[in-house]
Amino acid sequence: MKVHVANHPLISHKLTVLRDERTDSPTFRRLVEELVTLLAYEATREVRTESVTIKTPVTQTKGIKLANPTPVVVPILRAGLGMLEGMTRLVPTAEVGFLGMVRDEKTLEASTYANRLPDDLAGRQCFVLDPMLATGGTLVAAINFLIERGATDITVICILAAPEGIAALEKAFVNAGVPITLVTGALDEKLNEHGYIVPGLGDAGDRLYGVV
Ligand code: URA
Repeated sequence: MKVHVANHPLISHKLTVLRDERTDSPTFRRLVEELVTLLAYEATREVRTESVTIKTPVTQTKGIKLANPTPVVVPILRAGLGMLEGMTRLVPTAEVGFLGMVRDEKTLEASTYANRLPDDLAGRQCFVLDPMLATGGTLVAAINFLIERGATDITVICILAAPEGIAALEKAFVNAGVPITLVTGALDEKLNEHGYIVPGLGDAGDRLYGVV
């Protein structure tokens, strides 16, 4: 698995405000969108393109456009929804699918409770949005779900990642035969005993949408 940790002063600045417990929900939502757009720039470096011929007002020339089929963007409900707008702003022609994942508190296994995705993802490039890579359980299940449906190239975009989550993804997909890339705004120190990322930013879903 390729891991790319963003290293840019604008991203670090926005992350610092995002982490601050005094940042309110509207500001938090706007910052998440802005951060995703910046991360998406890196995450789409290998997006598939094809050549096209166009006419400028001056002459005919060659250019490129996103290849068909276009990428599929998959936010993981609920917190991943807060990342969708920032991603589709950069890739407006992408198709959007949704995955709702829930964790069984006894077995700690994550499973799918909602799925709005094309049945056949054969040959599709998928961009999975989940703000927090903590234990990795949800993302392992989500990536398996996409691979079972034929996805051939998967990029995960996270705002923050913990080393434990990266290790879990690396272990789960060492022999997957599908290229997997992780792009994250920062690699944090560790998980605490409650599974929260440290220093982290708290519960991303609650901070985006309020506690339910
Ligand atoms: N999910 C969150 O929202 N925050 C964490 O710190 C870990 C998982």
